[in-house]
Amino acid sequence: MSTNDQNSMADATVSAFASFANRYEKGTGGATREIARKLMSMSPTSTNNSKILDNATGTGIVIEEIQNHISSANPSNDIRIPVIAADAAQPMIDNLNAKLKHAQDNSAWPNLSPVTTHTVPAENLDSAVVPDDSITHAYMNFGIFFCKDPNLAASHIYRSLTPGGTALITSWHLLGYLDPIRKTHKTLYPSEPTITMPFSEQWEDPSYVKALLVKAGFDEGKVQVTQQDTSMRYASLKEAAAMFTEMFTTMLLGPKGWESPEARNDFQERLAENFKGSGNYSDDGMDGVRVRMVANIAACTK
Ligand SMILES: C[S@@+](CC[C@H](N)C(=O)[O-])C[C@H]1O[C@@H](n2cnc3c(N)ncnc32)[C@H](O)[C@@H]1O
Repeated sequence: MSTNDQNSMADATVSAFASFANRYEKGTGGATREIARKLMSMSPTSTNNSKILDNATGTGIVIEEIQNHISSANPSNDIRIPVIAADAAQPMIDNLNAKLKHAQDNSAWPNLSPVTTHTVPAENLDSAVVPDDSITHAYMNFGIFFCKDPNLAASHIYRSLTPGGTALITSWHLLGYLDPIRKTHKTLYPSEPTITMPFSEQWEDPSYVKALLVKAGFDEGKVQVTQQDTSMRYASLKEAAAMFTEMFTTMLLGPKGWESPEARNDFQERLAENFKGSGNYSDDGMDGVRVRMVANIAACTK
């Protein structure tokens, strides 16, 4: 793919996140939050000297989990940590700002202060937003692979970390929904090319993730990439199929969308059938349904 094609795909992805921002958390089925909790368990203990960066913050799931983690580890509430949160999509930041206002009005994030939010792509996170050697804990949960220039984004993370600071950066190792979606698309649109995600498949490979982070400045011996299972969870198969049909409309059909409500329903129903036949789908009865996902988690120290 040419650089121009890559750049327009990255722009289209940010627009897709922007238009889906209000439904984003329901769409993830809790998978990114579950991995964010895992990142907390892997993070060095926070102190009053900590300073946090959350890149590709989305609606601030990682920030909420930081607050939950600090308050459960430190019930006396004597810690105050500044947080810088950034995302390329303004509606994601609008969502986070609304949460922040609610948290301030209700003293719900007592350990995070101040939280500053920025609509800026991770590639442009220069020292005016995040000074050199200033961050003790940097997070980028499922964002780096959407960047036009992931290496530049990782270089800014490295630049802004204090010596000894930690970065936790994730990508997907396995996308349990992809085969059912591809199969449904192939059946209904056989002459169309097989659909591809808006990021390189190389991100599945832990050694690719590690090499990129080493190129960005981290010492080879200070980057460890591990895998972690998680699931996207929905109340029912019908809800899961409807959610994936909505999330993937632009990727499947481009901006023109479905040719008719019937075409959309047909896709949704076949997708539900294909989920049932997939090894990455399970029905938990009263607890709903889930689609298996596996994350790559890169833990890096400067
Ligand atoms: C899958 S969401 C992850 C959100 C959040 N970190 C979480 O754990 O749920 C990906 C986010 O990356 C953002 N994004 C896409 N390209 C970006 C870029 N170049 N720089 C920063 N954020 C970007 C999107 O707007 C979206 O909010």
